[in-house]
Amino acid sequence: MTAPLPEAIKTALEAGQKAGLAATGGKNADYIPFLASVPSNLFGIAVVTADGRVFKTGDADYQFAIESISKVFTLALVIDQIGPNALREKVGADPTGLPFNSVMALELHGGKPLSPLVNAGAIATASLVPGKDAEACWAAILDCQSRFAGRKIALSNDVNTSEQTTNFHNRAIAWLLYSSGSCYSDPMRAVDVYTRQCSTLVSAADLATMGATLANGGVNPVTGERVIGDDKTAPILAEMTMEGLYTASGDWAFTVGLPGKSGVGGGILAVVPGELAIASFSPPLDPAGNSVRGMAAVTAVAKSLGRNLYRPRS
Ligand code: DON
Repeated sequence: MTAPLPEAIKTALEAGQKAGLAATGGKNADYIPFLASVPSNLFGIAVVTADGRVFKTGDADYQFAIESISKVFTLALVIDQIGPNALREKVGADPTGLPFNSVMALELHGGKPLSPLVNAGAIATASLVPGKDAEACWAAILDCQSRFAGRKIALSNDVNTSEQTTNFHNRAIAWLLYSSGSCYSDPMRAVDVYTRQCSTLVSAADLATMGATLANGGVNPVTGERVIGDDKTAPILAEMTMEGLYTASGDWAFTVGLPGKSGVGGGILAVVPGELAIASFSPPLDPAGNSVRGMAAVTAVAKSLGRNLYRPRS
């Protein structure tokens, strides 16, 4: 007989902690100077259930830069506003098979980003956030992140300054998008808003709550607030499966079998639809840009809980 859920989650967190600690290697991201200064040994895991129970271990309350995991929540905001079909038509919904900041991926597809979870697609998605100017769009994004997390999320001025003064590659991507008709606002406004959305601070516990809101059909299970329509979560989770861990997304689906999303700040999130979300934080990354310890931890938690979308539950 399987253990009742809270007991099973405690056992799973122990398994995650053990697997994470055994996973060595990787290196903090340093192309954003701030990220290189975050202590590499920080490590936490959190699980939040779709009925609002929170479980955590290690440095699960340490606040770090959300980075690419923000792409999921701006995608949610835009899908909720314009619908999945318009998003698919304007940005795309396929994996690129190339690194997250690839220019070649754009060149190969006539300037269309394909996925809202790579940098090009996320900048295009940020350009679709309704609002009369950058401040209005930014306010909507911050509010959306906060409602998913169930608390007021804030920008880190240090992270934002570090990114805004080094994001030349993303600015080039924004101009390429603009030249192919795939940027729907001023390109520098889109990249500014996108850079800010990457520079907010969250903990693993926040990320797990944000993921549990997706697991729970768009209602934050801790606050009870409906954040997005319940018909909007499936395409978001599908996109996480296809591109959430970039070039490792296929391996992740093959081995873990859950929609996931990583960020170069060291965060990683996986969602079990209808049930729970698992998040971890550990800064050292592999060459694809995914947290080495975080992937090992989330994999072990999912395995211990026996959750994999492609396997029938006994
Ligand atoms: O735009 C960037 O490059 C960063 N702000 C975010 C990239 C990222 O997190 C990729 N994830 N693994």
